[in-house]
Amino acid sequence: MIVSAFFVFTLSLMMSFAYLTIKDRIPQILTKAIDTLHRHKNEMFEKHGEKGIEAEKKAISLLSKLRNESQTDKPIVPLVEKFADTDIWNQYLEHQQGLLNDSDGKPRWFYSPWLFVECYMYRRIHEAVIQSPPIDDFDVFKESKEQNFFESQESIMTLCIHLRELMQIIEHLDENQLKDEFFKLLQISLWGNKCDLSLSGGESSSQKTNVINSLEDLKPFILVNDMEHLWSLLSNHKKTREKASIVRVDIVLDNSGFELVTDLILADFLLSSKLATEIHFYGKMIPWFVSDTTIHDFNWLIEQVKYSDHKWVSECGANWENYVKTGRWVYHDHIFWTLPHEFCAMSQVAPDLYAELQKAHLILFKGDLNYRKLTGDRKWEFTVPFYQALNGFHPAPLCSIRTLKAEIQVGLQPGQGEQLTASEPNWLTTGKYGVFQFDGPL
Ligand code: F6P
Ligand code: MG
Repeated sequence: MIVSAFFVFTLSLMMSFAYLTIKDRIPQILTKAIDTLHRHKNEMFEKHGEKGIEAEKKAISLLSKLRNESQTDKPIVPLVEKFADTDIWNQYLEHQQGLLNDSDGKPRWFYSPWLFVECYMYRRIHEAVIQSPPIDDFDVFKESKEQNFFESQESIMTLCIHLRELMQIIEHLDENQLKDEFFKLLQISLWGNKCDLSLSGGESSSQKTNVINSLEDLKPFILVNDMEHLWSLLSNHKKTREKASIVRVDIVLDNSGFELVTDLILADFLLSSKLATEIHFYGKMIPWFVSDTTIHDFNWLIEQVKYSDHKWVSECGANWENYVKTGRWVYHDHIFWTLPHEFCAMSQVAPDLYAELQKAHLILFKGDLNYRKLTGDRKWEFTVPFYQALNGFHPAPLCSIRTLKAEIQVGLQPGQGEQLTASEPNWLTTGKYGVFQFDGPL
């Protein structure tokens, strides 16, 4: 039986991770959001009376309409509700429209770039909520994010105890010991990225095992390991910097809950080890990709850790709160992080944010979505250099810390990708593999 090449190509497209995301996981995530609104009906009535019920019904009908649009491959429609980014989104939609060959065609859910469609879905969820006052501040993903934190309690406690023990000896560690501890916490932050709730379709995906004990076993799954570059960059700054001068590390956050704890522990270590003098965090301005961190999640988590019953855990929380109060930790959010644009467009679309990132000595980009935006979510050959895939985006030395959960990876050795594909067809999308991929002075 002759199977035409076109049929195979279409089949591969049809079965691509992108296709399965739009076809299966997006409706699943929307159904879960609708269900969450249902379950909070009484709370909305208590808070807002009949108006709360009306608003809940309205938000549910808007999300049901959105689900229907996505499942029936309807044209992608402009945003209507006034918000800081509405015009930028609608300009981007027009831009997508312009890219279509047949002039009267419209961008549609199954025939538009995956990055655009998936981001658009989360932005439309936000539109449905802000169009439903007085519940227009309701975060449909809040519950899942907090559940992820509570279900990961044991692992979080283990990490906080490890950090407190480290703090007691950190002054006495020599160069190599400090480097080893740095590498351990980097790897913990990497594997913390497995716990995103968009890949799991909103289902819980918390950390139940002691990640510290499994680092050695997980090492073979690190496909690109530029940790040495991060060490030499920061340890050189530490050696050469004047007493009062600043060494700034920026962390572009991803998921809250367990992953955020791993990032805050790394940030605490960077200050305590004097590898950095200040840390700047970037979160999302709206609920995003189910588990991504907003300012509310950031403050809520530090508060939860501070009020933990476990003395060493609460000490971590108190320390973190103090870093924020004293300005050694600074939280930023910017609308650009919840736009569909690839990062090489940042200097045009958000020059203020680009200028802010240029102040960093090192930028750490957490997670898969940031990797897709760093590399334009394009189907690059596996061996294309990371520098090239960044397409001109070099605000400062940067490193992607990402577990692979989308069909894109660059900067591999010749044959490395093909070998993995032969032995493990889904190696790109399970989160089993990870990278530390650096771009900057070597
Ligand atoms: O829906 C898939 C996806 O868009 C992938 O990028 C990834 O699986 C996930 O969502 C986001 O992952 P992360 O939280 O690591 O950015
Ligand atoms: Mg995420």
